[in-house]
Amino acid sequence: MSPAKPTHAVLFVCLGNICRSPMAEGAFREAAESAGLSCTVDSAGTAAYHVGNAPDRRAIATARAHGVDIAHLAARQIAIEDFTAFTHIIALDNANLEGIKAHAPRNTTAQISMMMDAVEGRAGEQVKDPYYGDEEGFEVTWADVSVAAQAWVEKLLAESG
Ligand code: 4NP
Repeated sequence: MSPAKPTHAVLFVCLGNICRSPMAEGAFREAAESAGLSCTVDSAGTAAYHVGNAPDRRAIATARAHGVDIAHLAARQIAIEDFTAFTHIIALDNANLEGIKAHAPRNTTAQISMMMDAVEGRAGEQVKDPYYGDEEGFEVTWADVSVAAQAWVEKLLAESG
């Protein structure tokens, strides 16, 4: 017998898919594994600038400093199929949310949300783009995505009953 298909499939989406969403993917995968949540996880960008590239070296270093390896990930752009393949599509900021909606086909079945929506008292907040800033910005990103990843895991665990 093949293993049961995970109930949830989560796609994190930022602009380039080299900073915030790969960090969110790594933080979520780690949190899901620790909590015993079986879930498909991936990330994508609304833009195609960095397709095929590994995450930004500062994102890799920050995740690694927190015990999470994201070096093997490769950027891709969000695709039409994602809207039916994933149960949750999660935007890192408001512009990403608008970009996701712009790509959405009529038959989308995915629930579209913002990353910080799962965190009590922080719904609607954006995860700031660290790309043009310094290394410290990546620590802020990690703090945001890791607290939100944990909250999403708890939310999905509660939804699976
Ligand atoms: P991300 O960051 O959306 O968190 O991956 C960015 C990466 C690349 C660019 C902007 C933001 N860029 O303009 O190339």
